[in-house]
Amino acid sequence: MPEFEKVIVETDLLILGGGMAACGAAVEAAYWAKENGLRVTLVDKAAVDRSGAVAMGLSAINQYVGLKDGANTVKDYVTYVRNDLMGITREDLVANIARHVDSTVHLFEKWGLPIWKDAEGKYVHEGRWQLMINGESYKVIVAEAAKNALLGSGNGQIFERVFIVGPLMDGDRCAGAVGFSVRENKLYFFMAKATLAAMGGAVHVFKPRSSGEGMGRAWYPPWNSGSSAYFTMKAGAEMTCQEVRFIPVRFKDAYGPVGAWFLLFKSRATNSTGGNYMVERQAELENWLPYGKVKPVPANLRNYLGMLDVMEGKGPIYMRTEEAIQKIAESYKNDPKEHKKKMKELESEAWEDFLDMTISQAILWAGTNVQPEEKSSEIAAAEPYFIGSHSGASGAWVSGPEDLQNEQTKGEYFWGYPNMSTVAGLFCAGDASGASSHKFSSGSCTEGRIAAKAAIQFIVDHNHPPRIDPQALDAQAKEILAPLALYEAHAGATTDPEINPHYVKPRMFMFRLQKIMDEYAGGVTSQFTTNKAQLDRAVELLDYLKEDSTKLAAANLHELMRCWENIHRMWQAEAHVRTMLFREETRWPGYYFRSDKPKMDEEHWHVFANCRYDPGTDHWQMLKRPIHQIFA
Ligand code: FAD
Ligand code: ADX
Repeated sequence: MPEFEKVIVETDLLILGGGMAACGAAVEAAYWAKENGLRVTLVDKAAVDRSGAVAMGLSAINQYVGLKDGANTVKDYVTYVRNDLMGITREDLVANIARHVDSTVHLFEKWGLPIWKDAEGKYVHEGRWQLMINGESYKVIVAEAAKNALLGSGNGQIFERVFIVGPLMDGDRCAGAVGFSVRENKLYFFMAKATLAAMGGAVHVFKPRSSGEGMGRAWYPPWNSGSSAYFTMKAGAEMTCQEVRFIPVRFKDAYGPVGAWFLLFKSRATNSTGGNYMVERQAELENWLPYGKVKPVPANLRNYLGMLDVMEGKGPIYMRTEEAIQKIAESYKNDPKEHKKKMKELESEAWEDFLDMTISQAILWAGTNVQPEEKSSEIAAAEPYFIGSHSGASGAWVSGPEDLQNEQTKGEYFWGYPNMSTVAGLFCAGDASGASSHKFSSGSCTEGRIAAKAAIQFIVDHNHPPRIDPQALDAQAKEILAPLALYEAHAGATTDPEINPHYVKPRMFMFRLQKIMDEYAGGVTSQFTTNKAQLDRAVELLDYLKEDSTKLAAANLHELMRCWENIHRMWQAEAHVRTMLFREETRWPGYYFRSDKPKMDEEHWHVFANCRYDPGTDHWQMLKRPIHQIFA
């Protein structure tokens, strides 16, 4: 096996990830670090310019509150999120982001992001909270600001293409992270006084719909593999909402977004007989009161109504693009020239929506002769993802800000530093922090800013370097590189190195994980339905999988990354299954359905379902945490 150089990096604040939350954190941290003479280091497994969920660009900014215009209040946003999550939300966290998010959006504009404007110079809204953008280069623009802030301040460093495996601990305090370069034989030990986890959510924990030549295609970007969840769990942090997966309904097979169609174009979705499930299945909403009656109907319930049609054999479901476009252009009908112009404009907006953020959907349209002004397109529920910043809620249980707490919440939701997890020195933002859904790109960047400022304060208050046992470092180095050693020792045992009695390659390991989750934990092929017996079986099978994870083998650095990505996914899977087991009700039909507990149980389960892995004892603890409202 080749020699690995051990690189030790000492810093003050360590930012893990280079996505929206991490970039926001970099901008804010650079400022406060300079004020206090501190160093900031950012580490991304990829290249910050095009990493994370915004890599391809986006066509909308999904969180803009519009406080200055008096359009909405912070309370309005909190109410929206509470309703969309069927009552399960941390109002202090949502409000903290909502009160600051507009300023982040204004920064995006200042940095060069084109936001659509109307004739009066006002932002063009997609919906109440969403702004339309020309967002192909959104990530490049935000990354540039982060890089300028860090590298321009003289006290910042950026490491790209370094994959973070797990935490470094100094007793109960998080003292940095360990990782390896995916390009060179180098192991990295980052020693820090505070660490901010912002490594996104997870995809490919469940078997995707795509198979064969389309394998790997998913709505969520394939490179976010549960590293935030693994990192925080292995540090011993309490986690929340691990059962709250997100299932987006998307244009089928290439996962194009639907928001612009439903909100901007006001399109309907209809089944194969022309029925509109949102109208025909209204009565079903009565079963999920009070949330069944709120406006907009919560995302999971919208999903569920469509799923009921599909389960009854009424599919496919179609987005009626042709109908929506014709309807908007109708008022121009009496002037053929204006009508033609409007049709061209709508057609180009329709294509741009995909070209800005899901180019593959535009390619699929082109490849299948779809002209949206003439022909409907199929939509379908995707496989489950973990994305606490979107319409899911999974992540670490973090402290809220002090000033937003009331008598009830103070002892429960606040422990000193906004966005610090229950582990000292470990902060979380974006998909890494839980129970504060609907932050999206703008809110994640805002939360990164909030968390970074708090982390700098933590360092100022606890300004002593971590103590790390050198023997622990050696043990971690050995564990990280074990898949390379195993491959080298046994690859010669068979003629095809992919098949070997001594080891399992990461690809096959991933298939096994996905099959367990798909069949027992409510994936696509089990119609998003599960029950206690199936979840118990999933825990048992995940246990065997965990045993076999010590037999993962890697032929090169790329496969070593694949091995660790799959270990991260496996831990995300376990937390998910255990929490679905714990919550004995169905609260989010359309995300998952527990057939043995088919109803919502407000009396017993209007609570957060939290869990904590104890690294000392190797045991899981499940806990209920109360929900207290901050806004009446
Ligand atoms: P990300 O931005 O995904 O960043 C995660 C970062 O962690 C990346 O830099 C990644 O490379 C890095 N990383 C991962 N693992 C490791 C590791 N082990 N070591 C080191 N680095 C690691 N929001 C909107 O506002 N408008 C939209 O139109 C919109 N559309 C979306 C469309 C799609 C397909 C998706 C998936 C999301 C969309 N969102 C949208 C939501 C938005 O993209 C996310 O809310 C936001 O990116 C979350 O920020 P984050 O920093 O938590 O994660
Ligand atoms: S995106 O992340 O890929 O852009 P999507 O296009 O589904 O997501 O939605 C964008 C925004 O519109 C999100 O805030 C989502 O909650 C909202 N949205 C999508 N469809 C609807 C709908 N039918 N009713 C209300 N809000 C919707």
